[in-house]
Amino acid sequence: MTNIEHQPVVVSGAQPSGQLHLGNYLGALKNWVNIQNQGNYDCFYFVADYHSLTENYDPQEKKRQIFDLVCTYLSAGLNPEKSIIFIQSQVPECTELAWIFNTLTPLGELERMIQFKEKSQQQDKNINAGLLNYPILQAADILLYHGEFVPVGQDQIQHIELTHDTVRWFNNKYGQEYFREVKPLLTPAPKIMSLIAPENKMSKSAGDKHCLYLDDEPEIIAAKLAKAASTPAGIENLRLIYDSLRDSMTGDFNAEQMAQTKKIIADGVADYFAAFRKKKKELLRDEPSVMKIMEQGREKALPIARKTMEEVKKIVGVMN
Ligand code: TRP
Repeated sequence: MTNIEHQPVVVSGAQPSGQLHLGNYLGALKNWVNIQNQGNYDCFYFVADYHSLTENYDPQEKKRQIFDLVCTYLSAGLNPEKSIIFIQSQVPECTELAWIFNTLTPLGELERMIQFKEKSQQQDKNINAGLLNYPILQAADILLYHGEFVPVGQDQIQHIELTHDTVRWFNNKYGQEYFREVKPLLTPAPKIMSLIAPENKMSKSAGDKHCLYLDDEPEIIAAKLAKAASTPAGIENLRLIYDSLRDSMTGDFNAEQMAQTKKIIADGVADYFAAFRKKKKELLRDEPSVMKIMEQGREKALPIARKTMEEVKKIVGVMN
């Protein structure tokens, strides 16, 4: 996989903290699959479970969420033959590298991160240090595999810039060009808004009726769309959804006939994700196969991670 002839390395991940919705899919996962299928990148896609511990969560549910996200990845088209698919916490070197990066990152850089400010408001009873250090772990995720391109949604660009800065801080401090430059890989993606409150981004924290989940059954999709806002902003958002999945739509978008247009969109969305839902149900029932894929991913990622940490330890002056 990681070839002797070096292909550019792509790294990305998502947190296992609930179902993915259409906005997540179009903003990230769909691009991951495309990049993988282009065949000219070494791709690392992982489940960022350690990151998700910075949120309020139920430890009884976490494993299930991790497993579910892996099934989502596979059902959406990530292929373990083509990409290294793994669980972040199963390659613990990421936290070691994160520690090194902790010692390089000015506090002020972390405090100005938009996601940190937003999450500190959302969970004002749980402003843990992990929330602040979150982008440091993210930098470690990427640099552990010498990632150069990071396909992410718009909201993560600031974190990727911080990763880029981390490369500079590290290389400057230790006087060598060890890590390579990192860039976000931006594929233009539509910004899908909430169905009910289309002035806000589609977000699961607002509630289920605001989102179209990839797992939603056709009846659910139809019911959610029937209740979607038909204000000008709402119509615009529905048009965006329609256009994004145009190939699956079997009728025209008619803003004068929203009840009917919503049905067309509902059918189109249901149809677009039909194969996804089928595959995912199969995988959820076939735990051993999925576990095996995760294990294989870990086995491919680990030696690369270990090699990086060995080199980094040498550079920073601690013992191996
Ligand atoms: N912070 C990312 C998000 O919320 C998830 C993530 C963690 C990630 N580590 C990463 C994305 C490394 C890209 C690369 O979407």
